[in-house]
Parts: sequence; C-alpha cells; structure tokens
Amino acid sequence: MDEERIISPELENSSEEKLENSLRPKTLDEYIGQDKVKENMKIYIEAAKKRGEPLDHCLFYGPPGLGKTTLSNIISNEMNSNIKITSGPAIEKPGDLAALLTNLSEFDVLFIDEIHRLSKSVEEILYPALEDYTLDIIIGKGPSARSIRLDLPKFTLIGATTKAGSLTTPLRDRFGIVHRLELYSPEDLTKIIKRSSGILGVKIDDEAAKEIARRSRGTPRIANRLLKRVRDYATVLGNGDIDKKITKHALNKLEIDELGLDDIDRKILETMIVQYNGKPVGIEALATTIGEEVDTIEDVYEPYLIQIGFIARTVRGRQVLPPAYKHLGYEMSN
Ligand code: ADE
Repeated sequence: MDEERIISPELENSSEEKLENSLRPKTLDEYIGQDKVKENMKIYIEAAKKRGEPLDHCLFYGPPGLGKTTLSNIISNEMNSNIKITSGPAIEKPGDLAALLTNLSEFDVLFIDEIHRLSKSVEEILYPALEDYTLDIIIGKGPSARSIRLDLPKFTLIGATTKAGSLTTPLRDRFGIVHRLELYSPEDLTKIIKRSSGILGVKIDDEAAKEIARRSRGTPRIANRLLKRVRDYATVLGNGDIDKKITKHALNKLEIDELGLDDIDRKILETMIVQYNGKPVGIEALATTIGEEVDTIEDVYEPYLIQIGFIARTVRGRQVLPPAYKHLGYEMSN
C-alpha cells in the first residue's frame, strides 16, 4: 500500500503515533462513540473490580484506526493496572511469550495487536495461560526433556484483529468478551474532531468539523490526520482558525472527495463498473486487476465502501451498487 496515502487508516510513523497518543482519551467517559462496547465494558470492569478479580480476556475486532489500542489503554487505566503492548508477529518464539507473561503483575493487561498472526507454537502455550494462568515450559531436549508448570499472575489478555475470521477456534473460544468495533458516525467523528482541536489549541467552527468528519471514512485516526493537514492550510493561508472554506480548500488539494474517497477507492469502483460491467466479481480477481493486496482491499477499502452502500458482498462475489455509479457519474447499463 502507498505509504503516503492521507486516508490510510494504518499508523504512518512515530510522529503520528505521538500525535495520536496526545489525543487519546484516558477514560471511558472521555471516549466518544462505540456506545455498545463502552456500556458493556463499564459493567464488566466494575464487576471485576468489585469481586477483586481480573477482567475476563477481551477480543476486539474491526477495521484499523477505530481505537482498539486506545480502548485497551483505557481498560487498563480503569482497572488501575499496567498495560504491556505487543503484536502477533513480534512474538516469534514461545520463549518470547513466556518472558512477557512472567513479567506481568496481577490484573495487568497484555495487549496483542494483530493476534491472528501468532504462530501455532506460541498460540499453544497461550491456551493454559489464558485458561488457568499457568505456563508449561519444556526444559531440555530429547528423552531427558521434562515439562515444568509455572503459575502466572492473574492477567487480562486483550487481543485485537482486523480479521476475526482468521483466528483459530480454540483461541477465539478463550475470550470471554468479544466486541466488534464499528465505523463511527459523522456525528461522533465531529465530536472527536472538536475534542482534538481543543487539545491542539486550534479554533474550528461547527461546519468545518462536520466537513472533515464527512470525509474521514468513519475512522478517528483519519479524522485526526485530516484535522492536522487542514490546520496547516489554515496556518499558512489564514489566521490559523479553521472554517469551512479553508477546510474545503485543503481537502480538495488533498484529493479527498466529498465522501472521503481517494483515487484507489475510485479505481476499485471504476474497475467494477467498467471492466466487470457491474457484475459480481471475486475479491482475488479484483485485487489482481487493480494491483492491490486482497487483505488491503478487505481490511482498508471495502468496509467503508460497504458502509456507504457502494459495494455489497454477495455469494457470487463483490457487487457494485447504484449509488457508486451516481457518485462517479456513470450511467447504469441495464
Ligand atoms: N480520539 C481518537 N478516537 C477517539 C475516541 N473514540 N474518542 C475520543 N477521542 C478520540
């Protein structure tokens, strides 16, 4: 994927990570949107605290940029515990996971991003750790090898993934709490943009915040990134305040259209309309035709195109829908 894409929901670099950290809400009450998840988590956290038990293991899934890491930080904060953050591909050997687990304290949160990418051997030592907070390690090799069992502190695993379907059943079954994070409504994104503007110390009017929200593909990470870019235009071309005019100017310069679509979204839709004649197309064929990875299309582009009613998933493949024709200015042929 093009690293420079302004609407990529992936974290781009460490300076963006710093910005994201400064804008991150620290409590569930500060966290905007995802109301269902928030309500449920509030109860589970309070119940665990009342009983003096660790929070059950949680799995959060959904498209990138929706706040899975943020939510995990908040959870550890609300549990008054520490969080250790890692990812599936970073845990290469069972020993790496053993080191992480044995260094936890009671009620700590271990956050594993991209948990669907854990290797089989690592996953297998995770099972007893999740189930009864024990670690079976094998010492030695061959006939003299023996296994010893270590007790672990009672911890909470929070797994995050964009691909819940890629999790093995035994792993998925060990999460007591499973939530799908949804794309945000423009109203919630507007609130997030106003909150972030306050933290950044920039003045923004309602109309401008709404305009950025509408073009952020339901994703706070994109909303905050666009806000930063619009702020640059306001600083250079105006007095630093953000209004609708400077917002539209900036977003048009960034080639993000009225709905937040960029050139690759348009390429996907145009390929489906022109090359495949509006007929259902398999995801592999589509990916090959436009030269993108299947995973990128499924995780990054498709969720938003489905949300705005431009694409549907059918049993015969992906189907482009009438609103996409209208938006791109194509007549429907039949
Ligand atoms: N910044 C990024 N995501 C946010 C959220 N869900 N609530 C508040 N601020 C945010």
